[in-house]
Order: sequence, then structure tokens, then C-alpha cells
Amino acid sequence: MSPSDSDRSVRHLLRQAKVFPVDMPLFDTDAAPDEPIALFLEWLTAAVEGGVAQPHAMTLSTADRAGEVTARTLLLKDVDDAFWFASSSASPKGRQLRINPRVALTLFWREQGRQVRILGEAGHGPRDVSVRDFTARHPDSRAVAIAVRQSDPVDDAQDARARLAAAKELVERDDSFAPDDWTAYRVAPTSVEFWQATTGRDQVRLRYDRQGAAWAKNLLWP
Ligand SMILES: Cc1cc2nc3c(=O)[nH]c(=O)nc-3n(C[C@H](O)[C@H](O)[C@H](O)COP(=O)(O)O)c2cc1C
Repeated sequence: MSPSDSDRSVRHLLRQAKVFPVDMPLFDTDAAPDEPIALFLEWLTAAVEGGVAQPHAMTLSTADRAGEVTARTLLLKDVDDAFWFASSSASPKGRQLRINPRVALTLFWREQGRQVRILGEAGHGPRDVSVRDFTARHPDSRAVAIAVRQSDPVDDAQDARARLAAAKELVERDDSFAPDDWTAYRVAPTSVEFWQATTGRDQVRLRYDRQGAAWAKNLLWP
């Protein structure tokens, strides 16, 4: 197959891909609240109650000092006046966040044709929130997080197995143990955009931008 044939067949494959369902929720921007967290919670509730798969999965994008961008999927852990996620501060993302706390969070609820894009700064939450998050995890996940550094290459497997066994013992012995690097991060939003697909392809977009203590609301062209 020549590269152009292969290109055409991939294009064909992609054109066949299913897009949005026909029964998507309506987004009445006139009825939208004055601040984005209330609307986010409304959409999150609709996603959970509507059976969206993994509605708490979101993309966290970070950048280092040189502007190199990295993105990965994480779980949204809580929402108050900020958006919370948890990870190791010793991981690549944790090291990037130390240098540059500016982040983008993106949620996509495909079954409802909805996307939410959040910009803001990530900061460490209180230690007790990190400990609570860690101790709520499955014991096996805890043992792995204690034994090895997230995203390090797997080299000395024998050594890692020994550390994992020791970590499992520690978790069994002390149910309240959390390693120092496990961190609950809170992202204080500066901008939140809500995007709703429609069957007519005239997607509806509403962005909130923080202005001091208040929020400016603007409709955007799709
Ligand atoms: C659905 C899903 C949920 C995930 N949730 C988390 C999470 O809550 N915390 C976390 O540290 N990694 C989570 N991961 C793994 C991350 O995507 C990533 O592989 C890991 O955090 C290492 O990222 P880094 O090398 O950029 O630091 C999740 C992955 C998937 C696919």
C-alpha cells in the first residue's frame, strides 16, 4: 500500500466514526448562573445521573519552563471553589507544577456532547486532604505509590518487587500512612468554558473569565 492509499483509507475510517447522539441536552445560556462552579456542578450532576462513562476523568495539561507541554488523564477528586486532583509531587507533572503552576483541565462528556475547559493555577491543598485521598485508595495502589516513583523507567524489577513487598506490609500495618509526595492539588480557576454540541452543528459556547471577585460571561463563536 502506498502512503497515499494508506492516508485515504485512514481518512475513510475516520469519516465513518460515530459522532454525537441526537438526544443531547439543551444549553440555555440566558439561564446560566453568574459564576461557573454552579454551572459545572449542574453539568457534572447531569453527566453522573445520565450515565456518562468516567465523568470524572479529565485531561491535565502542564508546561515546563521551556514551554514543553505535557498532557495526561487524571481523576477529578472534588469541587468547591477549586477543582481538585491528586498525584505524586515527585512525578513529572509534579515537577512541572513546581516550576509552572499554570494548568489546563479538560473534561469531555461525549454521551452528552459536552466539553468543559478550565484554566488556572494548581497549588498544594492541606496535608490532611492529601492523606485522606491517599488512604481512600485501594491498598494495592497505595503499595505501588509507596514502593516506586511514578513514571520512572522499570529497570531493576527484582529490587522493585522487594520494595513492593515491604510497601504492602507497611500498608497492612498502618492504614493511615501516606507518603510525603502524595499531594492533593487544587486548581483555582481563572477561566471556565462550557461547550455544548447540537445536532445542527451550531455548537454553543459560554466562557467565564475571572475579573477580580466577579466573573465576566461571554458567548463565543463555535
Ligand atoms: C482514567 C485515568 C485516570 C487516572 N487517574 C490518575 C490520578 O488520579 N492520579 C494520577 O497520578 N494518575 C492518574 N492516571 C495516570 C496518569 O494519566 C499518568 O499516567 C500518571 O499520573 C503519570 O503522569 P506524569 O508522568 O505526567 O507525571 C490516570 C490515568 C487514567 C487513564
